[in-house]
Amino acid sequence: MEETYKESSPVESWTEVILVYNSALKEIGTKLEILNDEFQHVHRYNPIEHIKSRIKSSESIVKKLKRNGYESTIQNMVDYVNDIAGIRVICSFTSDIYRIAEMISNQNDIKIITIKDYIKNPKPSGYKSYHMLVTVPIYLSDRIVHAKVEIQIRTVAMDFWASLEHKINYKFEGNVPQHIKDELVDCSIMVSALDRKMLSLNEQIQDMAERE
Ligand code: GTP
Ligand code: MG
Repeated sequence: MEETYKESSPVESWTEVILVYNSALKEIGTKLEILNDEFQHVHRYNPIEHIKSRIKSSESIVKKLKRNGYESTIQNMVDYVNDIAGIRVICSFTSDIYRIAEMISNQNDIKIITIKDYIKNPKPSGYKSYHMLVTVPIYLSDRIVHAKVEIQIRTVAMDFWASLEHKINYKFEGNVPQHIKDELVDCSIMVSALDRKMLSLNEQIQDMAERE
């Protein structure tokens, strides 16, 4: 029997849901580690700098449901909160981001729900990152469930920007003064310039190494 955590599965309890999302994080985390190890083996190079994962707190889940006009039920949380399981993949270069995304997309058991490319289309805030909402099958003792995981892939520089911007938003409780917003947009332009320069430098070095 196959069920989906995306919609309409009879969800028993909060602890079961958390167990499933924790398993989903482990599955995706392992897949990413394997890809990174194999890439290191073949190309002598690690596309992934590091990985962070988290389960959304119950308080944040309830807040998000309320904000979107849903009652706090387990079924609503499974159906409407897409980022209960979140994994962030930090890469060195922009090219690594697309490489990782493609390798993930090529895995047959992973189903892609949505892709948001905030690198090609940055948010007005200046936010850049590549988001994939996927489901991964979790094999329980008597059934398979498909759990949603939000994967955010970004460079070290994009991550630096996003964490500072997040801290600033938190400090001002969303009411960030315009001049600070403007400076953040300036910084995001510098982040893109830095990412481009570092990528081009890395490509030059690799070309030189190949010619040796
Ligand atoms: P939520 O933002 O989660 O309500 O959903 P959404 O449908 O708007 O998803 P989106 O893909 O736009 O953003 C999901 C996540 O990306 C957020 O929870 C943040 O972790 C991150 N994110 C999106 N926009 C920003 C931003 O402007 N600044 C920062 N620092 N992070 C952002
Ligand atoms: Mg979110």
